[in-house]
Amino acid sequence: MRDPKRVAILSSGRGSNMRALVEQAEGYEVALVASNKPHAAGLDWARERGLETWAEDSKGVDKEQFDRMLSHALDQRRVGTVALAGFMRILSPWFVEKWRGRIVNIHPSLLPKYRGLDTHQRALDAGDTVAGCSVHVVTEELDAGEVLGQAEVPIEPGDTVESLEARVLAAEHALYPRVMREFVRR
Ligand code: GRF
Repeated sequence: MRDPKRVAILSSGRGSNMRALVEQAEGYEVALVASNKPHAAGLDWARERGLETWAEDSKGVDKEQFDRMLSHALDQRRVGTVALAGFMRILSPWFVEKWRGRIVNIHPSLLPKYRGLDTHQRALDAGDTVAGCSVHVVTEELDAGEVLGQAEVPIEPGDTVESLEARVLAAEHALYPRVMREFVRR
């Protein structure tokens, strides 16, 4: 039986949103930290905190086959909510269908603006004065599912991609756990 309050976090890299979701877990429980990169930063951090981890190298593995292994690991732990946090892989249609409505992602822009990559550069190039981040439901279409929550930050004169990214990232770390708390009650 899937339990929506049992959350699996999928992360491939730096893992700062994963850490924020763990540190601010309230109203939900992190049942698994999973990665497609066995050496992803954050896996050791999670293990040290007594969290369960699952990591398989996705390189060279058929996409759906990988997703079936991942899904099996989630089922084994009665996970009911999948939180993507810097998971640098497009999920297969099979996985999206199986977990429909139960996968969320955090994206560093105010969707529907700037889907895809290089969001901060694109916001600066456009001369925007406001940037931000969005938590949304994952569907087959990239960064296009229902927006569950957003946070805005100002773009300051002289901002670079790095300075803007740091400001948005701090907002992400506050937004994601808050939205998760509400989402798992659906
Ligand atoms: C974040 O900017 C997030 O919005 C995007 O990927 C980045 C992941 O960073 N989806 P981290 O691994 O959580 O530090």
